Amino acid sequence: MTDDAPIPGTLHVQNVRVDVLLSEETIAARVAELAAEIDRDYAGRTPVLCGVLTGAAIFMADLVRQMRNPVELDFIAVGSYGSATHSSGVVRLLKDLNAEVTGRDLIIVEDIVDSGLTLAYLRDLLAARYPASLATCALLDKAERRETDVPIEYVGFTIPNAFVVGYGLDYAGLYRQLSYVGVLHLDET
Ligand code: IMP
Ligand code: MG
Repeated sequence: MTDDAPIPGTLHVQNVRVDVLLSEETIAARVAELAAEIDRDYAGRTPVLCGVLTGAAIFMADLVRQMRNPVELDFIAVGSYGSATHSSGVVRLLKDLNAEVTGRDLIIVEDIVDSGLTLAYLRDLLAARYPASLATCALLDKAERRETDVPIEYVGFTIPNAFVVGYGLDYAGLYRQLSYVGVLHLDET
């Protein structure tokens, strides 16, 4: 340990600071509530949870471990052209689901909905396969940034318009491992 040791609850890398927005405990409590809500709404059915890689992997892992109904897990990966902090809205499919989903109850599991363009693309893509039902569960909703009207049936937290990392969310591929969600500040010391 040196004088440069990080302040507890924050992460210091070069000129980057991450301030805690949602603590590990706060997230865990809300994830348990979402799991209970989905269990209740899908009682007697076996939904397929479609995690959107890579950001939703950690949320998905915690969510399903709080669920008591039978569920199946699958993953889909999409990319959007753009900078590290702003997507262009042009989405492309990088990895499709493994499962056949026609006639199944599908739940898209997303880390965050920002402009909504990624989610709108995913909903259109999956709706075209005639699932029995289609819903979305997003941990975070940056509602004020929405550019397209897309439904989100389950929202963990509505958050302000800031760039957040942690609990699966990245900045340039980093910070996904943080157990909390924090606001990223660049070029500050
Ligand atoms: P949208 O298409 O604008 O809704 O963006 C959705 C995707 O952009 C998310 O799935 C994230 O991968 C990424 N994204 C949007 N906002 C943030 C953020 O604050 N931190 C990290 N990734 C974000
Ligand atoms: Mg994502």
